[in-house]
Amino acid sequence: MRILVVGSGGREHALAAKIGQSALVDAVFVAPGNAGTGLIARNVPVAAEGIAGLVAFARSERIDLVIPGPEAPLVLGLADRLAEIGIACCGPSAAAAALEGSKTFCKEICDQAGIPTAAWRGFTDAEAARAYVRQMGAPIVVKADGLAAGKGVVVAQSVAEAEAAIGAIMEERVHGGAGAAVVIEECMTGAEISVFALCDGLSALYLGAAADHKRVGDGDTGPNTGGMGAIAPPPGATDEMIATTMTTIIRPALAAMVARGTPFRGFLFAGLMLTGTGPRLIEFNVRFGDPECETLLPLLRSDLVPALMAACDGTLAHVDLRWSAGASATVIMAARGYPGAYQKGSAIAGLDRASAQEGVTIYHAATKSAGAQVLADGGRVLAVNATGPDLQAAIARAYRAVDAIDWPGGFCRRDIGANAVKNGTVASQNSGKR
Ligand code: AMP
Ligand code: GLY
Repeated sequence: MRILVVGSGGREHALAAKIGQSALVDAVFVAPGNAGTGLIARNVPVAAEGIAGLVAFARSERIDLVIPGPEAPLVLGLADRLAEIGIACCGPSAAAAALEGSKTFCKEICDQAGIPTAAWRGFTDAEAARAYVRQMGAPIVVKADGLAAGKGVVVAQSVAEAEAAIGAIMEERVHGGAGAAVVIEECMTGAEISVFALCDGLSALYLGAAADHKRVGDGDTGPNTGGMGAIAPPPGATDEMIATTMTTIIRPALAAMVARGTPFRGFLFAGLMLTGTGPRLIEFNVRFGDPECETLLPLLRSDLVPALMAACDGTLAHVDLRWSAGASATVIMAARGYPGAYQKGSAIAGLDRASAQEGVTIYHAATKSAGAQVLADGGRVLAVNATGPDLQAAIARAYRAVDAIDWPGGFCRRDIGANAVKNGTVASQNSGKR
């Protein structure tokens, strides 16, 4: 088989590496990829959002299966365009990708399916939204309806903060068209974890649970990021909690999508709040998480490719995956300044030495090669993963690998998984100080 992975981050490096190990696979391409994917697959100079270019490449290179990493190409209709020319794509149609692309749509599906989630109201009029916030009081959550690069959510501690968020999103349009509508939600409290499933429309195959660390600073301080590290399994992910999530959240969502005529195929990412009344949905994403993908795939012992094909064929109910009993931790190394302004182009050394250590895999998140050198080429630059017999061992190995990397231009959090090991909890991602 010839497989095309779409994207350029650590998630896509992890997917391409795992897919490349399959005996079913003859060639793996990554569009556009990075220096790390270039070592294990063939990079293709087409942007992840260049739908026409991706489709033309898939056709001319006789690609059998396309695996989109990020949500943007899915929302732009990559799966639909590939379906028109008979190429399998392990990702949802644009209509089904609205589960992530429109928070209003996601909440409508939750209501239709009876999925436990925060109480909500949707608005297209800023004045009406402000009146609702004044009526409900704070804390309250304001969300831009559309995609806003992970920045469209404000957990407001006061009515004034919520009203300011509504003005910024709907009137100043700080996230552009994504702010044409807002969802205003009840503020939930609890520990946050994410559950992942591969879906074929009707069936869902559990892929694991993980906890991300979204704030840039140690102790969950500073601004939000794409994710500074992740651990698996996270505290709280008991067999019972996972079973509850599959039966009350994931499977009802799939059934509701089928009922609407927009069945969901691909990776489904349920962001959950573990509350006193059980897991409640924060949001769905229509893709694997990053760095959660880099954290979970190293624990997978089975070939992933038959499962990806089954997701496309509608035969996932017959697939079983074997997982290692151990734990996994990923530490993100980012360019100094991230998530604010940062420089590109600083040199990274020591990667071979670091990745030779026991249990360690280094995925590139944003790098490019210049001769024999690897250069930083974005904000989140490396995903340093390690597995181990337990979480403490995995974390220690990951940091030992981080310390073997020579990159003065980079930094990382030093406390990934520390709370989980020490207190057996993961903090709510919105509990930190700003
Ligand atoms: P997102 O940028 O969509 O990943 O969400 C940002 C963060 O906002 C989530 O990780 C939660 O910490 C927080 N959040 C979103 N919705 C709620 C809610 N209804 N109650 C409490 N926190 C929330
Ligand atoms: N790490 C969170 C995400 O992928 O959205």
